[in-house]
Amino acid sequence: MALSRTPMARYVLLSAALASSAMATSVSCAADAPLSCHNTTAYDTCCFNYPGGDMVLTQFWDTNPATGPANSWTVHGLWPDHCDGTYDSSCDPARAYTNITQILQAGAPSTLEYMQVYWKDYQGNDESFWEHEWGKHGTCISTLSPSCYVNYQPTQEAVDFFTTAVSLFKTLPSYDWLAAAGIVPSSTTTYTLSAIQSALQSHFGHPAVIRCNSNSELNELWYHFNVQGSVQTGTFHPVDPVGSGATCPSTGVKYLPKPGGTVTTVVTSATATGTSTAPSSTATGAVLSGKGYLNVVSGGSQNGCIIGAGTWYTTGTCATFTATPSGAGFTLTSSKGKCAISNNALTCASSVTAATVFAYDGASLTYSGSSSFYATAVPTGSTQATVYTASHAVALNITWQAQ
Ligand SMILES: *[C@@H]1O[C@H](CO)[C@@H](O)[C@H](O)[C@H]1NC(C)=O
Ligand SMILES: *[C@@H]1O[C@H](CO)[C@@H](O)[C@H](O)[C@H]1NC(C)=O
Ligand SMILES: *[C@@H]1O[C@H](CO)[C@@H](O)[C@H](O)[C@H]1NC(C)=O
Repeated sequence: MALSRTPMARYVLLSAALASSAMATSVSCAADAPLSCHNTTAYDTCCFNYPGGDMVLTQFWDTNPATGPANSWTVHGLWPDHCDGTYDSSCDPARAYTNITQILQAGAPSTLEYMQVYWKDYQGNDESFWEHEWGKHGTCISTLSPSCYVNYQPTQEAVDFFTTAVSLFKTLPSYDWLAAAGIVPSSTTTYTLSAIQSALQSHFGHPAVIRCNSNSELNELWYHFNVQGSVQTGTFHPVDPVGSGATCPSTGVKYLPKPGGTVTTVVTSATATGTSTAPSSTATGAVLSGKGYLNVVSGGSQNGCIIGAGTWYTTGTCATFTATPSGAGFTLTSSKGKCAISNNALTCASSVTAATVFAYDGASLTYSGSSSFYATAVPTGSTQATVYTASHAVALNITWQAQ
């Protein structure tokens, strides 16, 4: 079987190396590389994460002070734990870079932009937080060592570390997973640990480690993975946690809103009590309040947003909307005026007198119970598309981004 560093275990991409020194790349790994924590023989540690094979993507919910958007958890880090819960730290001080911002500006500007919103230091010093995460944990990831690159360029492995951590974080929308189960930030409601766990597990497929501070306030989630192949190009497989870490009580868990936050209270519609027309089921949904953007998701990714008139625009500045709780939902207002569904189309204008009551299903805006909106085509350039509630060629969803 393949031994460490034999050509059997990895294929060096000579063509890429010869094409351009600026195109330096990590070694390519065989598709049947063992899953980390699961090898039965020694294997090349450029294609097999060892000894840190249990990768943990950790997230924060910071409320005091608050960090990041009111409706999203933030990144803490990506940690290569050993498969028994122990871990190494600060494995290569020579690569503990102190210019992460510049490294990413040059190597992965869109990752940097994302981190500036979602990977936040509670003391306001993002650069030093990123340096800490890279130096303490990133330098211990075996597949990111310089010897795992063809024509290694210093710092490129740090670019790979942050890019991978951000992509993995995007697959773990804890806020939305919890909200979909009616678990939303509140200063009055508390939750049971089992409700939180089952909401997360129903999406992740395995238990997450749920952590609270000494006041029973939910403040951290750890998601464990094993990796097939390298951290740069391999596949992350969700697994059960190893080691300990859970710190919340079984009942009375607080999930506090971020101050200045804009989302939400859960409304439970009235249960039928004797009238023949009242609904007999209960429905839950998040009520939005405060200021935010209405982003448009079409074809699986975000593409532009709703502007002041209620139309869809893909190339300009997003309008700020104010959400105001009303009945079992909320109304929306832009600088143009109140928003309503009129003749099956979204319109915000000073001529609107009766604002429509919308709801939010935890992931997107709903009207009359449906999260589907439509346009006749995806707008380009300076074109604005009318947003319809009745079926047209392009289906879209509208998501709220709190400001
Ligand atoms: C797993 O791989 C590592 C790294 O190649 C090696 O040191 C270790 O002995 C292997 N474990 C088994 C059970 O073969
Ligand atoms: C960051 O610092 C390293 C040395 O620690 C240096 O090699 C590299 O050129 C710097 N990168 C940028 C983009 O400034
Ligand atoms: C809109 O959201 C619903 C439910 O959240 C989903 O089933 C549908 O695929 C989404 N449509 C688009 C265009 O993203």
